[in-house]
Amino acid sequence: MSTHQSRPVRAEAVVDLAAIRHNVTTLRARAEGAQLMAVVKADGYGHGMVPVARAAREAGADWIGAAVLEEALALREAGDTGPIFCWLTTPGEPLEDAIEAGIDLSAGAPWEIDELAIAVQDRPARVHLKIDTGMSRGGAVPEEWPALIRAAVREQATGRIEIKGIWSHLASSDEPKSTANESQLATFTEAIEVAESFGIDAEFKHLANSGATLALPETHFNLVRPGVATYGLSPFGHALPSAELGLRPAMTLKARLAMVKRVPAGAGVSYGLTWTAPRPSTLGLIPLGYGDGLPRHASNGGPVQAYGARRAIVGRICMDQCVVDLEDDDAAAGDEVVLFGPGTAGEPTADDWADAAGTINYEIVTRLGPRIPRRYVDSALGSTAAAER
Ligand SMILES: Cc1ncc(COP(=O)(O)O)c(C=O)c1O
Repeated sequence: MSTHQSRPVRAEAVVDLAAIRHNVTTLRARAEGAQLMAVVKADGYGHGMVPVARAAREAGADWIGAAVLEEALALREAGDTGPIFCWLTTPGEPLEDAIEAGIDLSAGAPWEIDELAIAVQDRPARVHLKIDTGMSRGGAVPEEWPALIRAAVREQATGRIEIKGIWSHLASSDEPKSTANESQLATFTEAIEVAESFGIDAEFKHLANSGATLALPETHFNLVRPGVATYGLSPFGHALPSAELGLRPAMTLKARLAMVKRVPAGAGVSYGLTWTAPRPSTLGLIPLGYGDGLPRHASNGGPVQAYGARRAIVGRICMDQCVVDLEDDDAAAGDEVVLFGPGTAGEPTADDWADAAGTINYEIVTRLGPRIPRRYVDSALGSTAAAER
């Protein structure tokens, strides 16, 4: 490693690939008998799409899930040759590239079947038909399901498409007791029966995201699609934390203090001076802000671990920086603070940040921007031999 590379960084998100593998193994055990699709959209929920996909495959993920075509194609370019499912396209997108790359695609309307059929070149399109079971996002509503099936059956007969799956998405699996889950499951089961009455025997049926993989076994069918749990975060937030689910949060967000100063009681902090020091205090400048994905809503409260204690962001979070109240700590510029991590060493978690910002852990990790380098370690190799990949 060159001298330049070994210089301490301003801030970094350390991602433990052993945690990703552990979570995939745990989720596979929770969905015995079903295949597992590790969902790596949005740059692997901020963790880095390709390294996460590799780690998930190593732990036995049968499928990788991507939202958009660029993600799916980037996975192929990175050398992933296994099953990849991609479900979000708009009219006119280059479906031919994805079909030639052997990527499984979704169709939720007859016109999407037509677009797929037209895009076919040397190999048939692998298609999963989407039924809208009640979330009113993508997919055919039950009234339009037979028309979608007829279009798919027609193109399957021409050899241009292969119907590989029937699928849907749950709106409320983070509330396992919600009756919406039962209702969506019933609609899904009916849709499968309707498809069968048209002679469709799709190999894969899939409905379950993380919440359902963990709490609703009746939704597993033969393929589950966990996203957030792959990263060790609980889809249930503080109501059922990761540790209780046997999951290990993979990401730790750290920064080095850019400046430290002692201020007198009464000193105002950051834009709008929304916080005033109630006593003489030591303030630390953290070189991260909403331009890096820290939620501005966590101003005056975002938690930080510094010098072994829990401290808080004071004043407004700015675009590139924010200020932590270190009280009377013996602090120095260059010292490291931890914004969130697994929580096992007393540091805040992504759930703590989510609470401070009035959002969900998904958003905390996913919004971290490209200015923050991701560093990959493998705790299974021992902490002193943490491998960078
Ligand atoms: C279609 C689809 N399947 C699976 C997932 C994974 O969801 P979760 O992260 O809640 O497990 C998502 C993410 O929102 C999704 O859009």
